[in-house]
Amino acid sequence: MTYLQCSARHCGTTLDAHDRALACPRCGDLLEVAVKPPALEPSDLKVLWRERRESWEPQDASGVWRFREVLPTYESEIVTLGEGNVPLVRARKSAQWAGVRNLHFKHLGWNPTGSFKDLGMTAGMTEARFLGTKTVACASTGNTAAALAAYAARGGMAARVYLPAGQASANKLAQALDYGAEVVQIAGSFDDALNELLAAADRDLYFLNSINPFRIEGQKTAMFELMEQFGWRAPDFLMVPGGNLGNSSAFGKAFMEMKRFGLIEQVPRMVIVQAEGANPLARLWRSQGVELQAVPEPETVATAIRIGNPRSWKKALEAIEFTGGLVMDVTDEELGEAKEAIGRDGIGCEPASATTLAGIRKLLQARELDREASIAAVLTGHVLKDTDYIIKRQGRNKMREPLTVATL
Ligand code: F0G
Repeated sequence: MTYLQCSARHCGTTLDAHDRALACPRCGDLLEVAVKPPALEPSDLKVLWRERRESWEPQDASGVWRFREVLPTYESEIVTLGEGNVPLVRARKSAQWAGVRNLHFKHLGWNPTGSFKDLGMTAGMTEARFLGTKTVACASTGNTAAALAAYAARGGMAARVYLPAGQASANKLAQALDYGAEVVQIAGSFDDALNELLAAADRDLYFLNSINPFRIEGQKTAMFELMEQFGWRAPDFLMVPGGNLGNSSAFGKAFMEMKRFGLIEQVPRMVIVQAEGANPLARLWRSQGVELQAVPEPETVATAIRIGNPRSWKKALEAIEFTGGLVMDVTDEELGEAKEAIGRDGIGCEPASATTLAGIRKLLQARELDREASIAAVLTGHVLKDTDYIIKRQGRNKMREPLTVATL
């Protein structure tokens, strides 16, 4: 049986496994699921997790739930769309662009709704249904909204999503609408939308932002899968885009658990890459400060990570410290060029994801990384998540004017 605990190590508060609280009642820090060491030996677990890939049972076929020995357990049915199990792809042109030799992308955009949010949502929504929830809600820059809407529909719950008006990409908004969510547009940023939602404090709503500890459990499995694909031997570096910092926190938790449970010996150095106009954690890192200063008006073309006041910053920093990693930022132009390189590999991604490749080039130029280093970069969103961006940036140069018969 698992339980919830405060993520502040000195606090020590524990709560029931299915408590609905999103923060520690004593100190206000975020909560996390305490996972007990699995009963099986590491080598047996690795075999079991792999064997499940040959099963068609929903909880084996899901790339999240096949790792269920390290997840909260449910007697009830899980809410799944067959998420996870995404490939690790080699990327030669991207590697060449960045100047490195040994690069793999873990494309979490190749999930059912086109982003890594599905991994967290299958876990969060399974918990929501277990609790008998009628309506689930989130604030979002778009991807969480799309995933929440889809998984709520799947689990038979109503969905309400709070989006910063005019800032989420049309593709993501369209997904949320298609899956039947109620869309509330908030005048302001993602941070304003999240504040508004948390202030609503409606007992009938179940919150599924990444401060929800069950979301984190689902998202952490991406790293179990990544390590499996690397033969349980860590690459030198792991690049992750940073927004609200739930994903970085989830990945950090995964590495801490894998190490503690004897599944791996080494961890990769985790590098969180933010966009320069929405870079509160990178600023904190550079200044070696202790308290995060929010960026009041975050601005970047990578709308998914246009976030000035990330909630999970403490957990993310802990992950960086645990893995000996670092935090950095890249400009919109740098991530734009990186995105084009990823496109030339036939892979593609949304702008926020391209921060990872831009970050690699910058680290190499700063001699913080060796060109022979083995690097895994996490692509978080599908190329079709922000088509306006592509058409605006590329359309004018690459598309020919329509030709008339006379000019042919
Ligand atoms: N990449 C993409 C494509 C995202 O959609 C997000 C976050 C991130 C990276 C950053 O992840 O917040 O865990 O650090 N999108 C959220 C949303 C905020 O509402 O869809 P993070």
